[in-house]
Amino acid sequence: MELKEKIEEIKQEVETFSAKSVDEVEAFRIKYLGSKNKIKDLYAELKTVPNELKKEFGQLINGLKNQTQEKFDGFKDSIQGNDSKSNQKSIDLTRPAEQIALGSRHPLAVVKNEIIEIFKRIGFVVSEGPEVEDDWHNFSALNFPPEHPARDMQDTFFIETSDDGDRSKEMALRTHTSSVQVRVMENSEPPIRTISPGRVYRNEAISARAHCFFHQVEGLYIDTDVSFADLKQTLLYFAQEMFGEKAKIRLRPSYFPFTEPSAEVDVSCTICNAKGCNVCKYTGWLEILGCGMVDPNVLEAANIDSKKFSGFAFGMGIERIAQLKYRVGDLRLYSENDIRFLNQFKSAH
Ligand code: DAH
Repeated sequence: MELKEKIEEIKQEVETFSAKSVDEVEAFRIKYLGSKNKIKDLYAELKTVPNELKKEFGQLINGLKNQTQEKFDGFKDSIQGNDSKSNQKSIDLTRPAEQIALGSRHPLAVVKNEIIEIFKRIGFVVSEGPEVEDDWHNFSALNFPPEHPARDMQDTFFIETSDDGDRSKEMALRTHTSSVQVRVMENSEPPIRTISPGRVYRNEAISARAHCFFHQVEGLYIDTDVSFADLKQTLLYFAQEMFGEKAKIRLRPSYFPFTEPSAEVDVSCTICNAKGCNVCKYTGWLEILGCGMVDPNVLEAANIDSKKFSGFAFGMGIERIAQLKYRVGDLRLYSENDIRFLNQFKSAH
């Protein structure tokens, strides 16, 4: 075939070529403009053309090359333009939106709220107090003798101590929420029915079983004729609301400076149904709180007439309740904020 015919043939091909997709445009580019394209072959054949015709043929091939390039550029514009238009068309407005990652409540907050709800149902109101507390509210008004070991440096984080032994100048991080009892008694008249959730601090080495801060809920009920039976029934109600209606409680005699008599309360083991397991150490019982009848000295310290009024108080650790509810053995997990731990409570309210 003569070179002229070949040029003509490729010109025809280029002119009639139509492309509808990016792939077809690319095929066109490879064939006519790529590194081994058909037009390059024409230049190679130029050698065989007699000298006097070289110029004319060269111009023909150059023209074809430019025409091809223009056609390619035209394709590029129209196909790319189409493509972005078709992209816009393909947005599906009925598709659900990207999911927003929801956080979850901290397990201690979940348990705290549940405790609050249980006591609210029987008329208790929530009250709170400061975490930096004076000696009076944390110790003295609660009938702690001046040299009681709980005041010791080992247990208490002191913020201000006194050199002259004057306790009233001392400030510390509260060691229990019982301090809020005192504040409520000082600021309101019986009948009092209150629960006080909050963070407390103890100067302890951190381990799986102890922490330098943890959380408590304090309860206080003061009225005329409040009896130990009222205390027991209130705590049974709490245990059954919290752990299920089959839950039983037992009270063991104990000692706290601010209650007389005092008791520690166990709930029947929720993990083995009181059959005996390693959590309840094969006793079938788990200790959950301390309680007692408010000591008359404590009432008097807050200017409440102990001849007219009596009351009960109790205090429980929120971590302890959470531990039994979620079977989390290691206390440290509650404050490490490991997202893998926290994510497991997503379904809790
Ligand atoms: N405050 C006690 C503690 O931190 C707990 C407690 C025991 C609170 C008996 C009370 C109570 O109100 O009556 O260990």
